[in-house]
Amino acid sequence: MPLSDFPRYPLTFGPSPVHPLDRLSAHLGGPRIWAKREDCSSGLAYGGNKVRKLEYLVPDAIASGADTLVSIGGVQSNHTRQVAAVAAHLGMQAVLVQERWVDWPDSVNDRVGNILLSRVMGAEVRLDASGFDIGFRDSWRQAIEDVERRGGTPYAIPAGASDHRLGGLGFAGWAHEVAAQEAELGVFFDTIVVCTVTGSTHAGMIAGFADLEAAGGRRRTVLGIDASATLAQTREQVERIARRTAALIGVPRDLREDEITVLEGWAGDEYGIPVDSTLRAIRLVGQLEGVILDPVYEGKSMAGLIDLVRTGRIEPGSNILYAHLGGQPALNAYSALFTQTVREL
Ligand SMILES: Cc1ncc(COP(=O)(O)O)c(C=O)c1O
Repeated sequence: MPLSDFPRYPLTFGPSPVHPLDRLSAHLGGPRIWAKREDCSSGLAYGGNKVRKLEYLVPDAIASGADTLVSIGGVQSNHTRQVAAVAAHLGMQAVLVQERWVDWPDSVNDRVGNILLSRVMGAEVRLDASGFDIGFRDSWRQAIEDVERRGGTPYAIPAGASDHRLGGLGFAGWAHEVAAQEAELGVFFDTIVVCTVTGSTHAGMIAGFADLEAAGGRRRTVLGIDASATLAQTREQVERIARRTAALIGVPRDLREDEITVLEGWAGDEYGIPVDSTLRAIRLVGQLEGVILDPVYEGKSMAGLIDLVRTGRIEPGSNILYAHLGGQPALNAYSALFTQTVREL
């Protein structure tokens, strides 16, 4: 069934803004770099990429009679914060399992940023000692059972709203939105750069652009930058969700292998731990553009973009669209890394 026939519950202001990053482009030389801003596309708790995905899960949740959204992520999960916001907006409860995905010593890690916001919005926050894993977890199943046992009706949302039947639809829609914005701006984005961890952001884009290509659109390259540091699992999940989403929206052909590209090299050794290139990318974009990136996701994908431009892997004549997926609240949990001004210019 075509994407436009799936029910969508609006949680965003409309299409997310697209704007050029001209000082960054001039600094790096070569391609013109633009950003599409999921971090300022919604009024719900600072927005981010999950709000767009949840637009397609919410009608299913409402139809199921649910009164509680149950989800899972790390202590500083942006996803669970967005689930808390959407639950509040809908008049539902939220139960959030927050695992110790990152071994990060900041003393206020479990008190500031995303987790603080989730508590403000009334979510039940359950801290859990388990480490990083994008798969299904017992703690999450337990939370679902607990809601049932106390008479509630849970709606289960996996990590990142990714490994869910409808998880890829939001960013398949993003691809269609890009095509409409290109027509308005008179530009064609031949290269998309996106951070990938639980996979459905990147996977949805792949399915959405394949859908456009099947309708006569031009080919383009979507480069996923891994920030999970568990590349094989993330690559497998991106491929699985991309194929599932493509089939769901009726893409009339199999996806090609070359449409599913997840690049490694900027995640460091561990999910959630920034490395030197992450911090340099965060400061560079902050100092050139006044655009804020986070140390877990966007700092890593921007570090990838910078290297791909500098090494000529992205051709100088390209127009790059950088998907800014949000995540800034987590910066508060990394305060020790930013106690002084360090100039990148
Ligand atoms: C700010 C930010 N960027 C990127 C991602 C990666 O998106 P996905 O999990 O859909 O791969 C996430 C969530 O995991 C995120 O919160």
